Amino acid sequence: MSRAESLPVETVCVLGLGYVGLPTAAVLAVNGFRVTGVDPRAEVLQSVNRGEVPIHEVGLKTLVQAAVNSGNLHAQSEPQPADVFVIAVPTPIREDHTADLSFVEQAARSIVPHLRSGNLVLLESTSPPGTTGGLLTEILAESGLTPKKDFFVAHCPERILPGRILSELVQNDRIIGGIDEESARRAAEVYRRVVDGEILVTSAVVAELVKLVENAYRDANIAFANEVARISHECDADGWQVIELANRHPRVSILRPGPGVGGHCIPVDPWFLVGAVPDLSRLIRTAREVNDSMPAWVAERTLAELADVKEPKVSIWGVSYKGNVDDARETPALGVLEILEERGVRFSVVDFHVKQFKHPLDDIEASITDADCILLLSDHREFALFEPAAIGKRMRHRIVFDTRRCLPRDRWEDAGFRVITL
Ligand SMILES: NC(=O)c1ccc[n+]([C@@H]2O[C@H](COP(=O)([O-])OP(=O)(O)OC[C@H]3O[C@@H](n4cnc5c(N)ncnc54)[C@H](O)[C@@H]3O)[C@@H](O)[C@H]2O)c1
Repeated sequence: MSRAESLPVETVCVLGLGYVGLPTAAVLAVNGFRVTGVDPRAEVLQSVNRGEVPIHEVGLKTLVQAAVNSGNLHAQSEPQPADVFVIAVPTPIREDHTADLSFVEQAARSIVPHLRSGNLVLLESTSPPGTTGGLLTEILAESGLTPKKDFFVAHCPERILPGRILSELVQNDRIIGGIDEESARRAAEVYRRVVDGEILVTSAVVAELVKLVENAYRDANIAFANEVARISHECDADGWQVIELANRHPRVSILRPGPGVGGHCIPVDPWFLVGAVPDLSRLIRTAREVNDSMPAWVAERTLAELADVKEPKVSIWGVSYKGNVDDARETPALGVLEILEERGVRFSVVDFHVKQFKHPLDDIEASITDADCILLLSDHREFALFEPAAIGKRMRHRIVFDTRRCLPRDRWEDAGFRVITL
């Protein structure tokens, strides 16, 4: 029997309108596809249909407005028939570090009643090896249609960097992994219409592994930097200088140490490899453990600095997982603050990007007034612009722990601050 005809793709249904799904839906829409965005969150649907965006990302509002005004993007709570379905739902880990694929399962089940002969389903969510060809394809086959004959499935992992999502979405090379060659071919055709980067076609399991290996590699490199920082501290040396000078070797490239690794991807994805092949992923697991131990180390070093201060107050500068973004998911700041809270240390959080957080957010003046120490956890550009002398005047003690090494050290020292780095 012949395969389902490959007709020109016109309609796309994007499931999940978050950091990945919303920009993807908007980019597809402004490139001429008629896009239905699907999300269970009513507030997301309302804001998208008004041409607004629930997340802060450079250029995204303008793009979503253009997409909605063109009539090519509409958001609703349920999927509808389309030529292509794109799944961009969360794939978090559970407490025990195993993959929680329940969102992918729900999204796939919601597609089943609408699946038609010739459809293509693209999984953009980062997933453990075997998910695309296994769980996802099996659920879609509950439609009664036959995979690789009636419908096609591919994994197209997203590698965008928050803060640069729009340019990376278009410019990054894309890995397209089909459950068979025809699936990969059809998926590549869709991405070629919106991506300027190279389209690299492979199998679904290779695509799954590539995405996971990329993030496990970065996690291991950061863990190495963190270990170097801690070893250097123990040897009374400046870990940043050790790394900077080691990186002058033409074949050494160590990443930056920090208060821990956060975000939606790097602290999560390596566990998918550990879960799939535990006996063979010892280095990857250890890297995760090293990075997860950093918030406690930062908190203990802060407490040690304040050991002689009565009822200390800490001004926390930044809680997003990295600088200049509003994303505080999986942020190491939470681990640091948990320990300060347990030890009864008062703290006041200031962040110019994060709008919602577990702890109250204060303005800069309230945060520094009578503080004994500034603990900088996110390298937001605004922090480096502050006048240290003016900040110091409001504080009880002039100590700053710059875990990102983003403040101009000389200026802060000239203003009488004791500057600590990792
Ligand atoms: N954020 C990033 O920078 C990034 C980068 C690369 C890959 N990824 C991966 O992309 C995937 C999505 O990440 P994200 O950051 O966009 O997540 P997100 O939490 O920002 O957005 C996911 C959206 O999916 C919605 N959703 C949940 N269940 C749904 C369902 N059944 N149907 C439709 N919508 C549903 C949620 O309400 C939410 O709005 C994850 O696998 C993530 O690991 C994220």
